[in-house]
Amino acid sequence: MLDVNTIFEEIESDFMNYIDCYIDDEEDPEYRRLMELKKDHSMQVSAKAESIAQAENFESRMILLCKVAGMLHDIGRFEQIQIYGTLDDLNSVDHGDLGYEVLSNTGFLEHFETVEQLALLFAVKNHNKRLVDDYPNEITEVITKVTRDADKLDVFRVMFNSLEEHIPEHTNAVLLGLTESDDVTNDVADYIESGKLVNKEVLVTTTDFYLMQLSWVFDLNFKSTLKKIKGSEYFQNLSDRLPDNDRVVKLKSIVFQHITNQS
Ligand SMILES: [Fe+2]
Repeated sequence: MLDVNTIFEEIESDFMNYIDCYIDDEEDPEYRRLMELKKDHSMQVSAKAESIAQAENFESRMILLCKVAGMLHDIGRFEQIQIYGTLDDLNSVDHGDLGYEVLSNTGFLEHFETVEQLALLFAVKNHNKRLVDDYPNEITEVITKVTRDADKLDVFRVMFNSLEEHIPEHTNAVLLGLTESDDVTNDVADYIESGKLVNKEVLVTTTDFYLMQLSWVFDLNFKSTLKKIKGSEYFQNLSDRLPDNDRVVKLKSIVFQHITNQS
């Protein structure tokens, strides 16, 4: 049996070749940019998944599986961008489901036993679902939860970079074209006050959007992820973008209290 580092390097090399085919074929500079962004995000999520798995003291095979799931979690994105020209699942296809299809048709997972392959496929398919509570076994649960945490951690970085570019189209894409306002929609406040992840469907204002991002802390699975959030300049920047009105200050304090209590 190959050692864990060799297995990771082989899958990484296969994955890089896979992505490069899409990037080389793509003539539209904006779509190329999106693919580069996703390539970078994939590697960052892999590194963050490894770091969470190490902090949780998992054994080396489990750390490998988390690293691989992190790297491949968005594998559906490349085909989604090429076919539909968008990252918007609502106007194209669920990229977790597409990733599952894509990965099933590659030989990337050949080094793994069947139970491991199924766990990795489950993590890819479910990394973007609002709620996942029905796990077939423990290994699947751990890999999926690490992937979901690592993905969220890295999205704070990606969002920060997109907002800092000050390119209106990029900002608009991040903020989903919401109305710029300091107001908080009642449903958004209700979710946070009950310690729940805000549902995207209730967002009206840009302030709602930033609050929804902060509410991701209610959907994190590991203490080590919450510790990383505590020290994250990207998370802090997101919080600093919010207006200073009483309602927002109160909601922010609920979020930060949760981080302190859980980490
Ligand atoms: Fe994703």
